[in-house]
Order: sequence, then C-alpha cells, then structure tokens
Amino acid sequence: MAILDCKAAWKTIGAARPPRLAELFDADPQRVGGFSKDIASIHFDWSKTHLDEEVLGAFAVLAYAVDYYGARDCLFAGDIVNLTENRPATHVAERGEGKPDDNHLAADRHQRMRSLVDAIEGGAFGEIESILHIGIGGSALGPDLVIDALGREADRFEVRVLSNIDGEAFEEATWGLDPASTLVIAVSKTFTTTETLTNVDAALEWLREAGVSDPYGQVIAVTASPDKAIEYGIDETRILPFSEGVGGRYSLWSSVGLSIALALGWGAFEELLEGAAEMDRHVKLTDGTANMALLAAFADLFYTQNRGTQSRALFAYDERLRLLPDYLQQLEMESNGKSVTAEGEPLGRPSAPVTWGGVGTDAQHAVFQLLHQGTTAIPVEFVTVIEHDDGVDPRHHQMLLGNCFAQGAALMAGRDHEDPARAYPGDRPSTTVVLQRLDARSLGALIGFYEHRTFANAVLLGINPFDQFGVELGKEMARSLDDPEKRTQLDASTRSLIERAGL
Ligand code: F6P
Repeated sequence: MAILDCKAAWKTIGAARPPRLAELFDADPQRVGGFSKDIASIHFDWSKTHLDEEVLGAFAVLAYAVDYYGARDCLFAGDIVNLTENRPATHVAERGEGKPDDNHLAADRHQRMRSLVDAIEGGAFGEIESILHIGIGGSALGPDLVIDALGREADRFEVRVLSNIDGEAFEEATWGLDPASTLVIAVSKTFTTTETLTNVDAALEWLREAGVSDPYGQVIAVTASPDKAIEYGIDETRILPFSEGVGGRYSLWSSVGLSIALALGWGAFEELLEGAAEMDRHVKLTDGTANMALLAAFADLFYTQNRGTQSRALFAYDERLRLLPDYLQQLEMESNGKSVTAEGEPLGRPSAPVTWGGVGTDAQHAVFQLLHQGTTAIPVEFVTVIEHDDGVDPRHHQMLLGNCFAQGAALMAGRDHEDPARAYPGDRPSTTVVLQRLDARSLGALIGFYEHRTFANAVLLGINPFDQFGVELGKEMARSLDDPEKRTQLDASTRSLIERAGL
C-alpha cells in the first residue's frame, strides 16, 4: 500500500502544474500567513513558492508513505538511522533532545569540555591569546561559520581556522600569531584525515621552531577516535572525545565546538545548543506543513522533481552570515548527493541539487542576472537579520534589508517589455528567512533548521543522509600516488599531469 501511495504521490508531484505565483497570491489573500511561521524568533516565509493544495496534498501522502514521522522519531530515539554504517545519528542528543542515555553521555562530555575551557581561561596552558583550530570539512566549517558570525564583538581569544593542505593556507592562518601564546586544537572525527594531520605536523614544527619546549603540550585533540590521537602522540589528558554517532557535518554541537566556546564564551555555546534544541522540539512535535523543516523539504523537492532545477541558491543578506553558503554546501551536498537509496537501490530520480550562493548585495552585481533572466529558474533563499550590530549605520542596514526584499519581489513579479532583452519572465520562486537578531540562540536554531530540512529531504527521497562514501575514491587515489605500481594503473592524462608537476 505504502509503495503504491508513494508512486502515486510522486506521479502527482511530477505532473502538477500549479498556477503562477502571482495567481496563487491573488487567489488566496491569506497566502502569506498560511506559508509563514515564526520559530525560535526566526520568521520563515515560504509563500513565494509554487506549493498549492494539490502539491501539498501529494507531499502529505508521500510523507506518510515513506514514514517520515517514523524516521524522525527514530532519529530522536537514537535508533540506527545510518543504515550503511549501522549507526544512530546522535547530534540531537548533543542538544539534550536525543535518547536519555545519549543525552547524558553528551552532557558529561560537555562538562569535560567546559572544565577545559575554564582551565584554558584560567591559564593552565600559559598565557593563551590565540587558538589555531585545525580540521577540515565538518571538523572546520561549523566552528568557522559560528565564530565568524558571532565572534566580531567578543573580546576573547583570536581564533584562526586552518583546513586546506595548501601551505599557503598554513602561512595565512598563522600569520602574525605568537606561537608561544597559541593553543592548537586539532579536530578530526577519525584522526586519520591527511590534511588535518599534515597541518598538525606543521603546527608542531612551527611551535618547535619558535622555541616552545613542549609543543605537544600546546595541542588539544578533539576526536571520536581517541586511540588514533594517542597513537599520534597526544596525551590522553588533552583529548576531548565525542560520539561515533555524531557525523562530521553535524558535529559543531559536540566537543568539536571547543573553539566556539573559547571564542564566544561558555554561555554563548550553551545558548547555541538551546537554540538548536528549540528547533529540535519544533520538528519533533509538529506534523504536516506546520513542521517547517518538512514544508521546506516539500518545496525543495517540488522544484527538483517537477521543474528539474539542478541547483538552489542561498544569499545571506548579512555580512556576518557570509560563511553560511559554504557550510550548507557540505551539509546538503555531502548528505544528500547520492544516487542510491538507503537500501542500495537506484534512486531513479534527481537527488540533492547543487547548493551555492553568496552574500547580498554583492551577489546582485555578479550572479543575479542569471537568476532573473537565465533560462533555468533557480529557487533562491534569502537569509537576513532585522537588528544590526551596534556600530552599524542604520541607513546601511535599511538599504540592505530593502534590497533583500526587493530581489524576492522582482524574481516573482518579472516585467514585460517590448524588447526581449529587457523583459523578465518573473514567476521565479524564493524563500525568505528573517532572524530578528543574530545571536548564539538564533544561529543555533537556524543551523538546526537546515539539519532537519536536510534530513526531511533525505527521508522523502529514501536516501541515507549520514554516510559519505563518495569522498573515498579520490582520497584513495591520492594515496596511491606514493605507490609506483599503482601509478602505472592511472589513466594517461593523470600520469602526464603527475609527470609535469614532478610528483
Ligand atoms: O572527506 C569527507 C569527510 O569525511 C567529511 O565527512 C568530514 O567532515 C571531513 O572529511 C573530515 O573528517 P575528519 O573529521 O575525520 O577529519
């Protein structure tokens, strides 16, 4: 029955021809209210999408047929939801919203993390002024986003985030830092990632060269594989563990957030967790289109499955959120960029679109031409903040907000013109997320929303969002360059490039 319902729902979704956006608004004066929600002081406006009664009805059937509600309950219950790796996904427990045992374990680890923050602040590692956070992917993007967004006004440790294996990145990250007063935080779930270990090696060398007598004593490891960190040479007392169930791209809430807590203070870190927990509770307790993560997933899937859109763009109309598109690229593309279902069957339909974006208003003068007049309609998400930081000229802020809202209006309205080059087709969808203010709590809720939306998309598609086998082959091939035998098996083009570079 469920399979039949599923097929029928996808068929309806694929065949639906909803009216133009302007007509949807004309037909329903309450449309804005019906498609807007306020959760954790964040306003979500999904009214400028083509979701209509027929499409929503089909998605409602689909959600039941694929058992989204059961999958959601399994996530919060700490059941195995990562089938290919036979693991639960316990990031919600880091916010106290998972299975009681997992919540307790996370709370214990947070306690340990807090003691370490207190010790660092109290001078146990000497006069620390700066933090060099080394990690890549999920072990860097979350802390980088949060610290960049909220750290501007915090008068605390200076935190630099180093991820790329490129030596230029090392130079830039350490430029101007005093090794003697820099604490290195090495973050790696597996503690086997080449980039991270190579950069930690370089950091140790940097400390050594500066005359630091015990370089390892200035390194803290954050990992789900403590044995590997010990093997690397880090003393057990300086290892902060986190659970195997916490996926890299869902990990900023765990000990991985140590740099966040140091940059913003423990209170702010707790607020971040509480904001995400508030979003967890919304998702856990709300069904149907009232569940904002699910409604957003309905819109995402309508455009990929019905309109064939292959990308979704997000523009942060707030400089403090400039790293949000980068963060979301990993969250959404590494989670849902798959071709098979969780059971290993061919997906048979488009999976995640390409997530990309930038910052408004800069992007208006660079990429918005295509969004307004290009041949492909791309759903656009605007994220902005009503209140600005102290010190920001209110006139700038008003212009910023005005531009943000005007772009959404222009995408939808379009404009007729006798000269085709000057005509805009309009009817282009956009969604708008408005934070009342940007603080740890609202940012936690915002990131939590994106996590749950990613999960809802995955469940509706039948994908496992918690593995990432697609990144392994390239890593393996990079390692194989060291083996002359394996080199000979590479294709001619790659061999010629390797020779050219003298590798
Ligand atoms: O290569 C992809 C990946 O495994 C990501 O999923 C992960 O966030 C990143 O590498 C870093 O991994 P680790 O935390 O184990 O160093």
